[in-house]
Amino acid sequence: MTRAANASRLFVPPFPPRAEKPRGALSTILTLRRNPLEIWGKAAFEQPFWVGRSSFGMRAMAHDPAAVRHVLLDNAANYRKDELQLRILSPGLGDGVLTAEGESWRAQRRALAPLFSPREVVGFADSMQKVAAEAVARLRRRRDGAVAEVGEVMARITLEVLEQTLFSQGLGQEPGAFQQAITRYFDTFGRIDPLDLLGAPAFIPRIARWRGRATLKFFDEAVDAIIRSRRAMIEAGHEPPRDLLTLLLAARDPETGRGLPEASIRANIITFINAGHETTANALTWTLYLLSQAPEWRKRAEVEADAAFDPKRPGSLDGCPVLRAVLDEAMRLYPPVALLSREAIADDAILGARVPAGTIVLISPYVLHRHRDLWENPDAYDPSRFLDGRRERIDRFAYIPFGAGPRVCIGMAFATQEAIIILANLLIAFRFDMVEGAPVMPRQRVTLRPQGGLRMYARRRELAQISTAENFFAKVR
Ligand code: HEM
Repeated sequence: MTRAANASRLFVPPFPPRAEKPRGALSTILTLRRNPLEIWGKAAFEQPFWVGRSSFGMRAMAHDPAAVRHVLLDNAANYRKDELQLRILSPGLGDGVLTAEGESWRAQRRALAPLFSPREVVGFADSMQKVAAEAVARLRRRRDGAVAEVGEVMARITLEVLEQTLFSQGLGQEPGAFQQAITRYFDTFGRIDPLDLLGAPAFIPRIARWRGRATLKFFDEAVDAIIRSRRAMIEAGHEPPRDLLTLLLAARDPETGRGLPEASIRANIITFINAGHETTANALTWTLYLLSQAPEWRKRAEVEADAAFDPKRPGSLDGCPVLRAVLDEAMRLYPPVALLSREAIADDAILGARVPAGTIVLISPYVLHRHRDLWENPDAYDPSRFLDGRRERIDRFAYIPFGAGPRVCIGMAFATQEAIIILANLLIAFRFDMVEGAPVMPRQRVTLRPQGGLRMYARRRELAQISTAENFFAKVR
């Protein structure tokens, strides 16, 4: 089949309209409040690099792999997370590894890296499988074909995975209460406040954050209680469970031999929950949506899940390239973290253009992943980009759902394994179809979610639809 014929068969999932002309300051502020994704006009998807003065100061947009590599890797020491990004994130996340800079970040990253080593991550596969199987059982107790709010289903599953892997003895809270607190967090701290954009000093209260303070107090108290009880257990000489909390309490900086300070342990627990929960849930939500619109890919994913996924060995996922490809394609079109930003510390040059100190460099995985120069049929859904040797031809700095360079996502292997395990379990048991007439549109808060949620019918797969004798029922027995 010719490329043109192939392109005409591809499904193009929804994205916000792209303005033809640059916006003024007021329109920018209103758009950022409504949906920051709409800020990217048509030109952004065609330009490799731009630097210039905007209403908010010097800005650069880097959507060329060489420019991205320069900022995130080659000259990363000259680019720190900028004030805007930190002001949005740090009130909630404290000085954890996601928001820390300089020596504080380096020491934390060194101490935390072993928690996410391949060996530890594979060790979490059984917990991930247990949570996924419980979620399937929960859905199976509902009427066949009942409507599920898929975003909520996924958020609950990924929160439970973190609960199991961080604190295998539970949060000591109703999962519902924690879930609600997290949703409140994203609705308050997750908003870009115009006062931040205007560079107003931190002591001027932001209304949404003011409302979010009770949520932070809730997080702090819940996490402190868990740390206290775990320390008491260790001090009493009991063998602690092997989970991330035990590893965090035992973590030592390999260079200095020092453990993490109490505040840093708490900040990193909250960081893992916030950074690892909505992101993974959104990647899975978009994956199910896209599969529901592309029956041939859904069939391929089901066939693979039926045949190659083994719930008794959930960590061995080498036989699941299609599941990996549909996940990666969902994160290409709808990257959960849709914007990275950095501030130039000293004057620099990127692709030959002068970048003065203080310039805010914006790198949007959303724009990069749909850039005209980098992708064939950039807005179309086509998981085959990640199959049959084609993945290796993608520039490392053209596809960055987990970032890149020294500050690449520490949870990348964890999230990928978790998402494939959850996806396999759900696809083996159910077929998800969109409720007719429900509009779908991505909206950026801290993460990229479907605006207004995603309502889908969860229909049990008939035995006849299950492609191998090794079907779900045989697998769970
Ligand atoms: C699909 C799921 C996920 C996506 C798309 C994602 C994406 C990202 C991205 C893009 C960054 C880099 C931010 C920047 O450079 O400014 C990042 C950093 C980070 N992520 Fe993830 N993440 C995911 C899951 C997780 C999980 C499961 C955890 C932990 C359990 C986690 C913990 C972190 C941490 C701690 C950092 C900061 C690393 C540092 O600055 O040294 N993430 N993530």
